[in-house]
Amino acid sequence: MAQKFYITTAIHYVNDVPHIGHMYENIVADVIARHRRRAGDDVWFLTGTDEHGQRIERSAAKQGILPIELADRVVADHHRLWKKLNVSYDDFIRTTEARHRIGVHEIIRRMLERNPDDIYLGEFQGWYCPNDETYFTDKEVTDAKCPNGHPLERAREQNYFFRLSRYQHLLLDFYDKHPGFVLPRTRFNEVIAFVAGGLRDLSVSRTSIRWGIPWPGNPDHVTYVWLDALTNYISALGFGSGDHEKFDRYWPADLHLIGKDIIRFHAVYWPAFLMSAGIELPRRVFGHGWWLRDNQKISKSVGNIVRPENIVDDFGADPFRYFVLREMVFGQDQNYSDEAFVTRYNADLANDLGNTMSRALKMADSYFGGKTPPTPSDDNDLIRASRELVPEYLRAMDDYAFQRALENTWRLLVAINGYIVANEPWKKFKENGADEALSRVLWNALESLRIVWVMLAPFMPALTRDALARLGSDPDAIGVDALQWGGLPNNVPIRVGESIFPRIDTAAYIGGTMSNPPIETTQAAPPDLAKISIDQFMEIDLRVAEIRAAEKVEKSKKLIKLTVFDGDRERTLVAGIATRYSPEELVGRKVVIVANLQPAKLMGIESNGMVLAASIAGEPSLLSVDTSVPAGTKVK
Ligand code: MSP
Repeated sequence: MAQKFYITTAIHYVNDVPHIGHMYENIVADVIARHRRRAGDDVWFLTGTDEHGQRIERSAAKQGILPIELADRVVADHHRLWKKLNVSYDDFIRTTEARHRIGVHEIIRRMLERNPDDIYLGEFQGWYCPNDETYFTDKEVTDAKCPNGHPLERAREQNYFFRLSRYQHLLLDFYDKHPGFVLPRTRFNEVIAFVAGGLRDLSVSRTSIRWGIPWPGNPDHVTYVWLDALTNYISALGFGSGDHEKFDRYWPADLHLIGKDIIRFHAVYWPAFLMSAGIELPRRVFGHGWWLRDNQKISKSVGNIVRPENIVDDFGADPFRYFVLREMVFGQDQNYSDEAFVTRYNADLANDLGNTMSRALKMADSYFGGKTPPTPSDDNDLIRASRELVPEYLRAMDDYAFQRALENTWRLLVAINGYIVANEPWKKFKENGADEALSRVLWNALESLRIVWVMLAPFMPALTRDALARLGSDPDAIGVDALQWGGLPNNVPIRVGESIFPRIDTAAYIGGTMSNPPIETTQAAPPDLAKISIDQFMEIDLRVAEIRAAEKVEKSKKLIKLTVFDGDRERTLVAGIATRYSPEELVGRKVVIVANLQPAKLMGIESNGMVLAASIAGEPSLLSVDTSVPAGTKVK
C-alpha cells in the first residue's frame, strides 16, 4: 500500500495580497508534493488562509469594508496566483469556514475533557503586538517594541489561559525522542533552549477582538488567533466532524512547511495543544528562510513588498519556480532581485539547458529523419554519470536540499555537453553518415537529457511535459523509476520546435523595467536615509514634453519608442510602458521627462532621457500634465 504523506504550508494572512514569501513557500511545498507523488506516495497537500484576528479587522476597517469582504478578495488572489504558479494543492482551508470552526471547538472540548485544569480564566496584564498578534509580559519588554521591532500596545483583559507551563518537560522529552522534529537543526536548538528556559501559560482567548471564532460556551471571548490558526491542519481533514476519513488517513502531518519566524508556534504551542487534547503530534516542522530586499525581510509591515508576477507573466511559472529553488539554500535567507533572475535564466536555462536540448534535437532531427536514433546504448560515460548523479539527486530531494538536487542535475547536463563535444557527432556524420556509432552517441545524449528533465519534473512541471514530448518520450513518464537509464524509445518522432528558453536581453528587460519598476517597492524610509539638498534636486532637469510619435519596440513586450518634443528639440526615448499603453493612445499626450539623463541603449535604440511613471504592482501609470502646459515647461 502507498505510504501516506501529508504536507501543509502556513496559512497566509489576508490583510494583503500574497507576496514572494508566500509564493516561495507554496512553490517549495508543491515541489515536495510532486516529488512524493511521483515516488508513489499517497500525498495530501494543504494550503489556505488565516482570516481572523486584529490585523485583518484593522486592515478591513482602514479600507471601509467588512473583514470577510477583504478576506474574500485576497482569497481570490490566492487562488489565481496558485493556479498561475502551478501549485497543485489538494485542499485550501479558510479559517472562516464552518468546518474549521467545528475543528477549533472540538480541540478545545477535548482539552477540557482530558485535562480540565489545562484551561482556566485569568487576567492578563502586559503588552500586545497587533502586528504579530502576540502578547508579552512586562519582563519581556524594554522599549514598547516587540522582538520584531513592531510597536506594542498596553493590554489588560480577562482571558482563558492554557497551562503551557505544564508541558515543558513533556515537550523536552518529545524533542529528545524525535531529533528530526524541527529542521534545520540550528532552529531546533533555539526551540529547545526556549522551552528549557521555562514556559509561561498562554492566553488563548480575547475579549478585545470581535473578528474570530467564539469561545465555546462563552461568546464574550473569541479564540486566540494562533490556537484558531494552528488547528487548520486538522480541521481541514474533517477533525471534529462526522466525516473524519481524511483525518484518520493523513494525520499526523508528515511536514509542516513554514517560515522561520513562526517556528515557536509550530514547535512549542502546537505540540502542547495536541498533547493536551490527546492527538498525535506532527512528524516534522521545517522552518525555511526569508526572502529579503536590501537585507530586510520582505513583508507588509516593513513595506518592501516584492510581487514578481511580472517575471511570471513574461517568462512563465516554471523558470520562476526553478529560480527560487536554485537561488535559495533551503533554510537560509536570500536577497531578491529581478536582475538575479535574468542572470540565472540566461546562464542555466537559456544557455546550459536550452542550448543543449536544441543542439541534440537538431542533430537527431537532421541525421535520423526527425526520429530518435535506432540504436540504444548500454555502456558509456553518460550512463555512469547518471548512475552516480541520480542517487545523489534523490538523496538531496529527501533532505529537502533543493539547491543540491539541482546542482546534481546540472552536473549531468555538463556531462552531456562534454560528451557531445568529445564525440563530435557532426564530424561522425560527415565521415560515415548516420551509422550505428553516431546513432549510439545521439541516443545517449537524448536519453540523458530525458533523465535531466525527469529530475526537473517537480520543479518545472509544465515545461517537463513539453520537453519530454520533444524528446520522443511519454510526457507523463516522470516517476522516480523513469530516472533509470534506458527509457527513451528508438525510432519515435521527436520535435525540435522553438527554443524552450529564449534568451532575455538583459539590458532591455532590466532597462525597460528600471524606468518603470515592475515590482512595487514601497520601502518605508529608514530614519537615517541620506537626504538630498534642494540644489541636488535642481540638478535634475525635469520638464514637460509632448509625445509626437510612438511605436512598439520589436521583440520587446515592455518597450515603446517615443519621439517627444521637449521645448527645444525632438528626442528619442525608450520607455517600459507597453504593458499598459498602446502607441496610438500616447501620441499627443503631455508627459514629464528627465531631460538630462545619460543616454542609454535599450534593444539597440538610444534613449535620451526617461519618462516618469508611477508603478502599481508593476503596472506603469504615466505622470501627465494638462495638454495646455507648453512642452519645455520646467517641473519642480
Ligand atoms: N498566518 C500566519 C501563519 C499561521 S500557520 C498556522 C502567518 N501568515 S503570513 O502570511 O505572515 O506568512 C505566511 C508564511 O509566509 C509564513 O510561513 C511566513 O514565514 C512566510 N513568509 C512571509 N514573509 C516571508 C518572506 N519574506 N520570505 C519567505 N517567507 C516568509 O505567519
